[in-house]
Amino acid sequence: MADTLNVNEIIEDFPILKQQVNGKRLAYLDTTATSQKPLQVIEAIDDYYKRYNSNVHRGVHTLGSLATDGYEGARETVRRFINAHYFEEIIFTRGTTASINLVARSYANISEGDEIVVTEMEHHANIVPWQELAHRKNASLKFIPMTETGELNIEDVKATINDKTKIVAVAHVSNVLGTINDVKEIAKVAHEHGAIISVDGAQAAPHMKLDMQDLDVDFYSFSGHKMLGPTGIGVLYGKRDLLKNMEPIEYGGDMIDFVGKYDATWTDLPVKFEAGTPLIAQAIGLAEAIKYLENIGFDAIHAHEKELTEYAYEQMSQVEDLEIYGPPKDRRAGVITFNIKDIHPHDVATALDTEGVAVRAGHHCAQPLMKWLGQSSTARASFYIYNTKEDIDQLVYALKQTKEFFSYEF
Ligand code: ALA
Repeated sequence: MADTLNVNEIIEDFPILKQQVNGKRLAYLDTTATSQKPLQVIEAIDDYYKRYNSNVHRGVHTLGSLATDGYEGARETVRRFINAHYFEEIIFTRGTTASINLVARSYANISEGDEIVVTEMEHHANIVPWQELAHRKNASLKFIPMTETGELNIEDVKATINDKTKIVAVAHVSNVLGTINDVKEIAKVAHEHGAIISVDGAQAAPHMKLDMQDLDVDFYSFSGHKMLGPTGIGVLYGKRDLLKNMEPIEYGGDMIDFVGKYDATWTDLPVKFEAGTPLIAQAIGLAEAIKYLENIGFDAIHAHEKELTEYAYEQMSQVEDLEIYGPPKDRRAGVITFNIKDIHPHDVATALDTEGVAVRAGHHCAQPLMKWLGQSSTARASFYIYNTKEDIDQLVYALKQTKEFFSYEF
């Protein structure tokens, strides 16, 4: 595995990036919303549909066996990728949101008066399911405060988690601020108080090497589409002993063992949580995406993103009246959220689009965090393996053009 990646070679695998948008070279800076897909992933899905499309776990025919091998092989790829102990610990879901909802609906060790601890930097997928659980159980929701730079301080973590805490739910990486949370340390604090920790890894899994044994978290959720895979597939990792004691939240085919007229029993993990025909093509695509990322190597991915992020941070800081939110450049993941004084972020994003630059504007599915920032919305640029300094130069040029255009007295 090399320590540097060959971005020109990588771009060759992403035909979508070679197009022009509004007559300009496309600079795709919205991977935090969804990543682009390499040909290898598209072709793996195409190959499944063309050559061995079939349902899994049921037929004995050849195509059915090939599809089952593809699907269960994908589970093994994910298990190895995150260093989980057992294949039973890997549940395929629709995405991060579905994974977190599964835990919030099914994890039963919470009752009236207990506490669920989250942070204000969470996106809605890691707040709303816990709000709903708190309401349903008459439990309360507590927030670990953030520092001025939008980071967590371990003293505040220790002050918020106590013996009433049953669940700690925290993002590994913030989708808005790029904050990287020390989930290993937070897990230790949670466990000292007998609580479990559920980590939202949607923005971490695409960018860093994950090791469930090292992090020692209880649940970890992520999505395929943010890490070069297709939409409609995600993963819930859960410790086997916890999952074994949890009830399914969806019922139907595949997840049963025996069905009588009035009752049924459930099959074993992990299929107990995968009712109905599963996400076969999507799992196969996700496994291919993981292989693609592993082939580049996470050290090289990290080095590339760090270089781009620091470069972008420095260049963007020089744009007049542009404010960047979140941690300093050397302590953040590849996402930069910003506003330009007196220009609405939707106008910024629209103006950037006319220059071929794709960024997201809005509340980024994180309204409590927007409130904390004192903003109704922001613009956000994010970087991945296929981005270059040329993309960032294009962004900065377009930002300066935008600033100039909106300063003009009509
Ligand atoms: N949470 C996703 C984002 O940040 C959808 O864009």
